[in-house]
This record gives sequence, C-alpha cells and structure tokens, in this order.
Amino acid sequence: MKKVAVIGAGNVGASTVQRLAELNIADVVMLDIVEGLPQGKALDIFQAAPLMGYDVDVTGTNDYADINDSDVVVITAGIARKPGMSRDDLLATNIKITQQVCANIEKYAPEAIIITVTNPLDIITYAALRCTQFDRNKVFGMSGLLDSSRFASFIAKEMKCSVRDVSAMVLGGHGDSMVPLPEYSTVSGIPLGKLMDDFTIEKVVNRTINAGAEIVEHLKDGSAFYAPSAAITSMVEAILNDTKRIVPASAFLNGEYGQHDICLGVPVKLGKEGVEEIIELELSNEEIQALQRSAKAVKEGIEKIRS
Ligand code: APR
Repeated sequence: MKKVAVIGAGNVGASTVQRLAELNIADVVMLDIVEGLPQGKALDIFQAAPLMGYDVDVTGTNDYADINDSDVVVITAGIARKPGMSRDDLLATNIKITQQVCANIEKYAPEAIIITVTNPLDIITYAALRCTQFDRNKVFGMSGLLDSSRFASFIAKEMKCSVRDVSAMVLGGHGDSMVPLPEYSTVSGIPLGKLMDDFTIEKVVNRTINAGAEIVEHLKDGSAFYAPSAAITSMVEAILNDTKRIVPASAFLNGEYGQHDICLGVPVKLGKEGVEEIIELELSNEEIQALQRSAKAVKEGIEKIRS
C-alpha cells in the first residue's frame, strides 16, 4: 500500500485526508503540532470506512517518525488568511513552519514527493525546495489546479452548462497576480471567445482572481478548504497512479517561460516522478506581461525570505 502524509490537521489538511481515504489508494497519516487534533480527526475519518467502503489505514500523530517512507507528503501546516490579511502577511510565520516541516521530511521521508499548499504558495514552494534540496521535480505547489477549477466552475455557471465540459487554464502566481488564460480555456473543445463576449470573459476572469478572497469574506474566520482539498487529492492521485495528467502547478523554473530561480504556476505533466515535464505554452504579449508581473511579485517575496 502506498502512503501519503498530510502535515497540518486543520481545515485543508483534514478534508484532504478525508478525500484521500475515500479514493482508497493509500494509507494516510495526518500530523499536527496540536496534541490530539490529528488523532481525533483521523479516528473519526477511519470510523467512516465501513460506511464509505474504503479499506486504507488513517492515523493521526504529533510525531514525525510516523511519516517515515511516505510516497507523498502534503504540507498544509501554517496559519490561514483572515479577512483583510494579504497572502504576504502570512509569509514570516509560514516560512518558519515550512522550515521545521521540511527538516523533518528530509529526515524521515527523504524519498517523498512534496506538494506544498501553505500560502503564500509560490514562495513557500521555493522555500521547501531550498530547505530540502530535493530535485525540482519532487517539490511543487498546489495552486493553478485550484484556480483553474474555480475558473471552470464560474464559466459553467455563466454558460448555464455542465462543469464536466469545461476545461480552464490559469498560470502565474497563486494570488492576485494570477493569469487566467481564456484562450486556453474551452467548453467541450469550443474556445471561450466563441461562446462569451469580452465583457463576460473579463467578469469571469476577475471573479476567478478574487475567488479565494470571496470565500474569506463570507467565512470571516478562515479560508477555503473544500476546493483546495479536491485539487490536492487530484494531484496526489496523478502521482500515485502515474497518470501523466497535465495540470497547472507551482514548479521551479529554470529558463522556462523566460523565468529563472522561481516557483510559478505553469502547466506540468504529473506522474510517479512528480513534475515529469513543464509544458511551455505560446502566450500573447499581454499574457507574457501579466506573467512577468506575477513573477515579479513572487520574486519580491523570495527576496524577503532571503534577507
Ligand atoms: N507543524 C505542524 N502543524 C502545524 C504547525 C507546525 N509547525 N504550525 C501550525 N500547524 C497546524 C495548525 O495547528 C493547524 O491545525 O496547521 C494547521 C492549519 O490549519 P488551519 O488553521 O485550519 O488552516 P487551513 O485552512 O487548513 O489552511 C492551511 O493552506 O490554503 C492554505 O492559506 C492556507 O496557509 C494556509 C494553509
């Protein structure tokens, strides 16, 4: 049986564990610094196994030794965004947490593939890569798949059509500078531009960019976790089943898209080796400029953690 460790037993971590258990593809261990929290939630999820029909082990722990030999480690540990708080405000605290988590992954699960989720995502991913010094294909972030799912859901709502026919693509940083790509988004293979006028496309794009903040405004305390956990679970499944899905993720760029020494959302091929390929899309001048703006914002964050 494969093994997935989820670090952080909060909203995102616990719902990821639930979704992974329901997929029935790996034993799952959930770790948190708060005593009892991962144990209690894991036990609750395990007790649902006879009802839901999954046959994997689900455990909770405060001890990193229990993540040993994990195939995939998902990092959700950190503090979540509160209303009025930008992703950058999270940086200082979440970087420290990421450093602790990565030191333990290196020690107990040195062969694992790491998926980062903690925000600010692209900077945390960069920090995780540098802390562990794992190969770049093995450390990447869940970002664009969530943003693309949000984009696709809003397109379907606007079109009053099934979400199943919508395929959407979002590149760039996981934040206000993300770059939704209407030109690479389709409904049943039909380019978006043939189905919606520019004004409507812009409305849907803007709602996608603000999708995380819209949820924070509603919840008041805490941020999204149902769609994030769904995106994480899709990525873990692609890795464990070696499906070679092409999805956007925050990957380390070494010249791709003209970017160096940065983690940024780009389409990647996901398989058992993690990021097996970075797909380079032809972009319009406007999209290139938007991606550069996005990269600039992420680079500023990286400079902050360096200093
Ligand atoms: N080690 C392990 N767990 C930790 C640590 C640590 N050093 N520090 C904090 N945690 C745990 C907290 O105890 C908490 O249970 O991380 C969990 C975070 O859970 P929530 O506060 O519920 O946050 P959540 O909504 O799950 O979001 C987690 O994902 O989407 C991002 O922006 C979001 O960065 C945030 C992260």
